[in-house]
Amino acid sequence: MQVHIELKKIVDDSYDITIDTLPKLHFDTKVAVVTNTTVSALHLEYLFGKISAKELYVVTLQDGEEYKNQESIDAILDSLFEHRFNRKSLLIAFGGGVIGDMTGYAASIYQRGIDFIQIPTTLLSQVDASVGGKTGFNNKYGKNLVGAFHQPKAVYIDPYFLTTLPQREFGAGVAEIVKMAVTFNKEFFEFLEHADLSNPEILQDAICRSVETKADVVSQDEKEHGLRAALNYGHTFGHVIENETNYKEYLHGEAVAIGMVMANEMALKMGYMNEKEVARVKALLQKYDLPITYTINDVRKFYEAFFLDKKSSDAAITFILPLGIGDVVITDKVDVGTIMCVLNKFGKE
Ligand code: NAD
Ligand code: GLY
Repeated sequence: MQVHIELKKIVDDSYDITIDTLPKLHFDTKVAVVTNTTVSALHLEYLFGKISAKELYVVTLQDGEEYKNQESIDAILDSLFEHRFNRKSLLIAFGGGVIGDMTGYAASIYQRGIDFIQIPTTLLSQVDASVGGKTGFNNKYGKNLVGAFHQPKAVYIDPYFLTTLPQREFGAGVAEIVKMAVTFNKEFFEFLEHADLSNPEILQDAICRSVETKADVVSQDEKEHGLRAALNYGHTFGHVIENETNYKEYLHGEAVAIGMVMANEMALKMGYMNEKEVARVKALLQKYDLPITYTINDVRKFYEAFFLDKKSSDAAITFILPLGIGDVVITDKVDVGTIMCVLNKFGKE
């Protein structure tokens, strides 16, 4: 006997991303703002001036990538249970990508899924992490290895929050902007080469262009069956670097910057990029004081760490390699010899 379940779904998960001063928001439900100690001290009062709700709670987590873990998820869920949140209740992610990813994940599993909105406060989360519904946390096996796709109901990007962002964190966000331009938009790349992102108007323009690029990719491939993987440019190498250095030496965006340089070396070897294009990407990263070199202590170990990345199957590693500037190749056809040759270039003398 065979029982068939008909489950063809047409789901409309569309949402708007507002890039402007945060408007006044009112919710007729219970709301929990999830934030961390740093963002809370700097901006919670401003947020409270903008939002009202039937009941409003705050969950304040410790600050840092090392707290992007199961314990923090449990702390969010405990608070929701204690305050008797129901399936109509709402979460607001108020912070950088760490808070956004965890809040989204908690929303995806609480009572099998409730709504959440994103109010990102770092450049990286404004241009990338808050858009597209990837949620999750890290465990001992690696970064973001537990997670879910759960789209926010809305994203509010207020560049005002960036006025308190440390310069290094700003640079880390620029790395993700560069990623978007190299992989999808040559004209945007050229704009960035000449732009002064310390000018608030130009910065807001760059945020809009990045978000438009990401929104376009996510609309075409929400669950990363193909095109969306291009947004992992620099990440295959970057995740290994973050892991090797225990998430202590480099910010995520900085590791991605080095990862992009490594990917470009591979693209050069494969004939996808030329020397001049590789140099232009390096120069743009350097303009924002991003790191562009890394010494691999143990090349074999670095290679093996690729296989822990969830984007790689057992048999092959998927690399995202620029095709010139403004286009990209997603390939699992790079032979081991080529991979080792690129890694050796970054190996100890
Ligand atoms: P983060 O969330 O750790 O924030 C960086 C630091 O800036 C933290 O110390 C934070 O407290 C502080 N901060 C936040 N807003 C501030 C403000 N306005 N002023 C001063 N300080 C502020 O890191 P991040 O770079 O925002 O995000 C990195 C995380 O995002 C990683 O965990 C990464 O895996 C994830 N990510 C997710 C996606 C996605 O699509 N979901 C995409 C890219 C990155
Ligand atoms: N940051 C990569 C993605 O959202 O797919």
